[in-house]
Amino acid sequence: MTKPLPSTILLICVSAIGMVAADVPVAGRPGCQMRCGDVDIPFPFGIGDDCAIHHGFNIICKPVNGTKRPFKGPFEVTKISVRDAKAWMKMRISWQCYDSASSKMKEWVDFQNFTYTPFRFSYEDNKIFIIGCNTMAYMRGVSYVIGCLSTCSDQPKNGSCSGAGCCSVDVPPDLGYLEAYFNKDYNTSEISYSSCGYVVVMEKAVFSYSTTYIPSTNFWDDYNGTVPAVMDWIITWETCEEAKTNMSSYACVSNNSECLNSTNGRGYRCKCSKGFDGNPYVKDGLLGCRDINECLDNTTYPCAGICENTIGSYKCSCPQGQNELARGVCVPDQKIQKSQAWVMPVVGASVGFVILVIMATCSYLIRERRKLQHIKQKYFKLHGGLLLFQEMNSNERKSFTIFSEAELQHATNKFDKNQILGHGGHGTVYKGLLKDNTEIAVKKCMTMDEQHKKEFGKEMLILSQINHINIVKLLGCCLEVQVPMLVYEFIPNGTLSNLIHGNHGQHISLVTRLRIAHESAEALAYLHSYASPPIIHGDVKSSNILLDVNFMAKVSDFGASILAPLDKSQLVTLVQGTWELLTRKNVFNLDAPENEKSLSMRFLSAMKENKLENILDDQISNEENMEFLEEVVDLAKQCLAMCGEDRPSMKKVAEKLDRLVKVMQHPWTQQNPEELESLLGESSYIISSGASSTGNFSIEKKVVKDLASGR
Ligand SMILES: *[C@@H]1O[C@H](CO)[C@@H](O)[C@H](O)[C@H]1NC(C)=O
Ligand SMILES: *[C@@H]1O[C@H](CO)[C@@H](O)[C@H](O)[C@H]1NC(C)=O
Ligand SMILES: *[C@@H]1O[C@H](CO)[C@@H](O)[C@H](O)[C@H]1NC(C)=O
Ligand SMILES: *[C@@H]1O[C@H](CO)[C@@H](O)[C@H](O)[C@H]1NC(C)=O
Ligand SMILES: *[C@@H]1O[C@H](CO)[C@@H](O)[C@H](O)[C@H]1NC(C)=O
Ligand SMILES: *[C@@H]1O[C@H](CO)[C@@H](O)[C@H](O)[C@H]1NC(C)=O
Ligand SMILES: *[C@@H]1O[C@H](CO)[C@@H](O)[C@H](O)[C@H]1NC(C)=O
Ligand SMILES: *[C@@H]1O[C@H](CO)[C@@H](O)[C@H](O)[C@H]1NC(C)=O
Ligand SMILES: *[C@@H]1O[C@H](CO)[C@@H](O)[C@H](O)[C@H]1NC(C)=O
Repeated sequence: MTKPLPSTILLICVSAIGMVAADVPVAGRPGCQMRCGDVDIPFPFGIGDDCAIHHGFNIICKPVNGTKRPFKGPFEVTKISVRDAKAWMKMRISWQCYDSASSKMKEWVDFQNFTYTPFRFSYEDNKIFIIGCNTMAYMRGVSYVIGCLSTCSDQPKNGSCSGAGCCSVDVPPDLGYLEAYFNKDYNTSEISYSSCGYVVVMEKAVFSYSTTYIPSTNFWDDYNGTVPAVMDWIITWETCEEAKTNMSSYACVSNNSECLNSTNGRGYRCKCSKGFDGNPYVKDGLLGCRDINECLDNTTYPCAGICENTIGSYKCSCPQGQNELARGVCVPDQKIQKSQAWVMPVVGASVGFVILVIMATCSYLIRERRKLQHIKQKYFKLHGGLLLFQEMNSNERKSFTIFSEAELQHATNKFDKNQILGHGGHGTVYKGLLKDNTEIAVKKCMTMDEQHKKEFGKEMLILSQINHINIVKLLGCCLEVQVPMLVYEFIPNGTLSNLIHGNHGQHISLVTRLRIAHESAEALAYLHSYASPPIIHGDVKSSNILLDVNFMAKVSDFGASILAPLDKSQLVTLVQGTWELLTRKNVFNLDAPENEKSLSMRFLSAMKENKLENILDDQISNEENMEFLEEVVDLAKQCLAMCGEDRPSMKKVAEKLDRLVKVMQHPWTQQNPEELESLLGESSYIISSGASSTGNFSIEKKVVKDLASGR
């Protein structure tokens, strides 16, 4: 036997592609029905509460048009995968059509509510698709509003969903609630050849755009009004460690099974260990995780020689007179001996043998190190490192450092769990200490798609050039790892969200609140107006605003930001913004009545009814502040306008806030109206001032709205 050579591993990978595996055998509790119509219902699912692991997995099997079909709540289930912890469900298509008889737009919109259930929309498998001419639609989640504009100004093409007749946006992680919504500013009343528009969340693998969707209702008809979406499921919301504390309810009961934390929000699920397959949720020796007999499947587990199954793995040895070149590849002895002919003179002499061993070890180590170097370089290039390097050399900027992986490992104590500062939508942030005692925050990004990887170097370069006192400073990055890491200055006082919601009612004065709002607005105004090209943050929220020692605001997390101009897909990402600073209330409250779920909606309705004192934080809604508050509230209203053109620019907002803070800090001006006026510079200020952070942009006539206000 000789060592496998790495160069031939590719061969094996190629032969493994194309294999399609059936899901695990159906297992269930004794006496339970494990099929409904033609859909298998494996445990932890079950028909009835006694058959399912808990109520969340209870499936209703009911007849529809004479055949039985499984349902989870209102959703028909078409397939369940235990291996991947996914379930396919049918979602109804939301539509709007122009009705020429009444000259009105008619619409029907659906919502999917998986709150308090084990299901989340799979962000890997689904996309939100919008089909139509001049159709702008959104899906509202708990903390997102996502959507895009589909027009027919370009010729739609079969199979392509890129803004012409069809547009699509990704689904964010940890999403259990979606509500469709058509923007009333866009409609098909003037479009003679197409009257309908649609919005769906659906499995992207089965979606294929057809130009016939535009002049007809074919999209709705082809799918009979419902499309498949892929749901990730978890057993409970506990982490693996929490679940294991109570073995009587822990679900991974099969021998050779393991627990996995979900990658889509909180919760855990089970899987069979490597080399085993079956249902990890059942104890049964036949249906639980069983050893895979790799020797029966030589496409997945190639072995040209003698195959021997072992528990959890397999051995493949070559017949006599042959040597194994790589796993499963045997060649006659000579071939290998020829390449090692130089070995021969040494063999026999025991001293020589020892030298050989030492040499072999050394060369092996050198080769491994070179290989590692090569991999690191590959990632470096992949992440735009070369581009970055070139630009940096030409610009001679000194403040930006390229860190090595080892440096960051050392700084963060090997990415120790205790160093974790937080988890963002785009990665985990660790606290670190450099050798020169600089405190840093290191963000390890989640895996990114190809498109994102290409843009990474460029985007980072631009962010690194930003030098604004209210924007967290990017000190450097590390590119030689599989997922790139970013290094920021360390900001000690936590997030604004913590300050507002976490401090058990600690007093925060109105001046401080307005100052924080002003500083955040300054940062956004800078990004929007002065940075070139303009940068749209895209995810402004209180948990992305950090506070330094002096409680000065520092905007962070540019993972969702976009550089204008955009590509053609006319992406519109709206991040619902609200007035947390004034109200100290959470942004979304799903338990509230329909029109009060989001704080911005509550805010607007409270304004309409003149009952602002009900919603404002008691700490600041006193008599002396009321005058200021009314002004702030008024601008708040402007910033919440749905239409971008109606909103004030971030620059204006920042200016007005600045003035307001100055007036509050110098109350004497209030007694002297003339002085006040000269300080303000414009008398109209009293009517329109306020606090907000909202901006709008017009990019190649396509409007990108960054509706993010009030944090
Ligand atoms: C049941 O069958 C009728 C007639 O074929 C059809 O119109 C109806 O849409 C079907 N219902 C469902 C839920 O599939
Ligand atoms: C969503 O479902 C949860 C749990 O059943 C419920 O509390 C909540 O009110 C629902 N939300 C809506 C908007 O229906
Ligand atoms: C797109 O495909 C449909 C059939 O699926 C066909 O009827 C239509 O003509 C095609 N459109 C173009 C522009 O090729
Ligand atoms: C369609 O949109 C235009 C412009 O937004 C608006 O003026 C018109 O009233 C709308 N028509 C219908 C039927 O909603
Ligand atoms: C839609 O319904 C028709 C008749 O009920 C059926 O023949 C067709 O297969 C259905 N299409 C889909 C995509 O389910
Ligand atoms: C453990 O789980 C069982 C079954 O779900 C439950 O009855 C029991 O109360 C749990 N024990 C603890 C300590 O949570
Ligand atoms: C699951 O997540 C928790 C909390 O993030 C973490 O502490 C734990 O190590 C994870 N467990 C596994 C098995 O990944
Ligand atoms: C699980 O493993 C244990 C110990 O290895 C063994 O005693 C038991 O029989 C196994 N159970 C099943 C169902 O195979
Ligand atoms: C798979 O097995 C068949 C017959 O046992 C053999 O002819 C073939 O070469 C094997 N394929 C691989 C890739 O080992």
